[in-house]
Amino acid sequence: MVSPRLGTPLSPTATKVLLLGSGELGKEVVIALQRLGVEVVAVDRYPNAPGHQVAHRAHTIDMSDPQALLELIEAERPHLVVPEIEAIATDALAVVEERGLAEVVPTARATQLTMNREGIRRLAAEELGLPTSPYRFASSLDELRDAAAQVGFPCVIKPVMSSSGKGQSTVRSADALDAAWEYAMAGGRVNRGTVIVEGFVEFDYEITQLTVRALGPSGEIETHFCEPIGHLQRDGDYVESWQPQPMSEAALTRAREVAAAVTGALGGRGVFGVELFVKGDEVYFSEVSPRPHDTGLVTLRTQRYSEFELHARAILGLPVDTGLLSPGASAVIYGGMDATGIAFEGVGDALRIPETDLRLFGKPESFPRRRMGVAVSTGPDVGTARARATEAASLVRPVAP
Ligand SMILES: Nc1ncnc2c1ncn2[C@@H]1O[C@H](COP(=O)(O)OP(=O)(O)OP(=O)(O)O)[C@@H](O)[C@H]1O
Ligand SMILES: [Mg+2]
Repeated sequence: MVSPRLGTPLSPTATKVLLLGSGELGKEVVIALQRLGVEVVAVDRYPNAPGHQVAHRAHTIDMSDPQALLELIEAERPHLVVPEIEAIATDALAVVEERGLAEVVPTARATQLTMNREGIRRLAAEELGLPTSPYRFASSLDELRDAAAQVGFPCVIKPVMSSSGKGQSTVRSADALDAAWEYAMAGGRVNRGTVIVEGFVEFDYEITQLTVRALGPSGEIETHFCEPIGHLQRDGDYVESWQPQPMSEAALTRAREVAAAVTGALGGRGVFGVELFVKGDEVYFSEVSPRPHDTGLVTLRTQRYSEFELHARAILGLPVDTGLLSPGASAVIYGGMDATGIAFEGVGDALRIPETDLRLFGKPESFPRRRMGVAVSTGPDVGTARARATEAASLVRPVAP
């Protein structure tokens, strides 16, 4: 039996984890690790980030600066480095891994491939032969015109380095390409950028297939699947998610084959959020996060162990259990205003809804479309849970300080 040793935090035996990105997902990972007596160092680009508030130590650095990142890792000497966001100097993580300074979760290569849509798309479609939307890449407006003509309309144009829908637009005809190019260039993480042009997939529904790579009893990696999570996206951000998403047997089997293939190619241990489009029994790979996924916040109440607890266990080399306890749903609470140190009213009303829980992330600053909290409900079926969660989220009212 494999059984890793865990130490005492803040002592020489400590098992140390350094988290790169300390938002609401990172905060839950920190709490899960804290419960196992792990010493946690939380890093973000701004002070008092959600995860900072529950860690043993907090650092504020520019994580896209390789030098700053390396210096911090050398100073902290964690056992594990756990990225929670995409916008980090992944080349520095490769150096950390090469020099054996720390183990990068799931692997430095996985963080490099998934931070760029070109890397992960070519891996999935061209190396693994998985079905995806048709696609082309373009690095100028002229190339974009050619690419869109080949892919056809409607198509979705996205900067290859971006997340949360930034710089992303759906284009229905050639005359809208100039505006889409400008929009993509303004929304990408690097100024002079490349875009992916994807054919629009008319899916019936989309899911996140949470997939966990964890050590089995004899030390080999096993792949575990959570029940599929359905979700609703608006302007590039998820607004509602639910679990389980009803699926045909054939589509579910296919979803798991695709998820196993792509996570197997990325390697390492931990939770992966595999985003898939489903049309009938056909499953198309969209993208993958080598870490817990925002739509998986629903698992805080639906599963025996949330995706954050599963991540903590898997990265530490501990066994996992992906069992579902109850159907459930999550609904996002937005800031609704630009302000610092906002308050929330109606929390009691929201919590009076049966089987309903809340997370308020404690983000120091609010803006209209910033995710400030989430309502998570269970129920006898997904429909009831969705109604409860959306009602609860709407009862929580952000108010100016
Ligand atoms: N080719 C496509 N066809 C149809 N819908 C699409 C396509 N690409 C993206 N979408 C829609 O836009 C959403 C966001 O796209 P995608 O996941 O690629 O962007 P993102 O910026 O990485 O978002 P996030 O970081 O929130 O996951 C998808 O979940 C889906 O609803
Ligand atoms: Mg996505």
